[in-house]
Amino acid sequence: MEKDREFMILINNINKGYMLGEEKVPVLKNVCFQVKKGEFVAILGPSGSGKTTLMNIIGCMDIADSGEYYLDGNAIHEMEESELNDVRNKEIGFIFQNYQLIPTYNILQNIIMPLVVRGMSSGEAEEKCMDTIRLLGLDHRLRHKPSELSGGQKQRVSIARALVGEPAILLADEPTGALDSVSGQEVLKLFGKLNAMGHTIVMITHDLNVAKAAGRIVHIIDGELSEEESREGE
Ligand SMILES: Nc1ncnc2c1ncn2[C@@H]1O[C@H](COP(=O)(O)OP(=O)(O)O)[C@@H](O)[C@H]1O
Ligand SMILES: [Mg+2]
Repeated sequence: MEKDREFMILINNINKGYMLGEEKVPVLKNVCFQVKKGEFVAILGPSGSGKTTLMNIIGCMDIADSGEYYLDGNAIHEMEESELNDVRNKEIGFIFQNYQLIPTYNILQNIIMPLVVRGMSSGEAEEKCMDTIRLLGLDHRLRHKPSELSGGQKQRVSIARALVGEPAILLADEPTGALDSVSGQEVLKLFGKLNAMGHTIVMITHDLNVAKAAGRIVHIIDGELSEEESREGE
């Protein structure tokens, strides 16, 4: 498996369908997808094309019916439920359109949560998170509740929370979908900065202008994946 180590994500011939009555309706069809370490890739496709289904598989929240999935060299398709939970908690930093912050927690409590869940004390977790908090410009907002923040700030909190667990990949589903265009651009710029720092990012979107922030675009249409033609000269 040594040759696979340059890939953070290596997906071979994944199929996934849902039962509709007696019949299985295919949603992902022989999907092959590779992401190298340190890449920033966008998966672009219209509503209903299978983006969320694919994200759930990449994020170890669901399993494919057939095919192989290696994450950082580990055979996800061979894992039991408990191992999948472990990989999901340690290796995937999720960023959602609607932020998914805990409303009763303040910003600091939201950000340190992944470390506290792993058994770290709040004090130790806070110390470990301070660099990330500063990087995202959130150090003056730590005692605020999510409801007191703008959409762009809330998304920065959710990105901080995704980062503190030091995941293998950041996995973002329509991360700018609920934001005005200025805040959306700021989030995309931040992704560019995180990518330049070495983070591997997979971003799912239906919006070509959002996808263009990534280094590479992969199209999904009707459950089939295809690489975009070279964008050189653009
Ligand atoms: N749990 C489910 N049960 C049955 N059909 C589903 C389920 N989830 C998604 N689908 C169907 O799979 C297709 C792709 O859905 P989805 O992955 O959510 O697409 P996207 O995120 O690109 O909008 C759609 O036709 C949808 O209706
Ligand atoms: Mg979706």
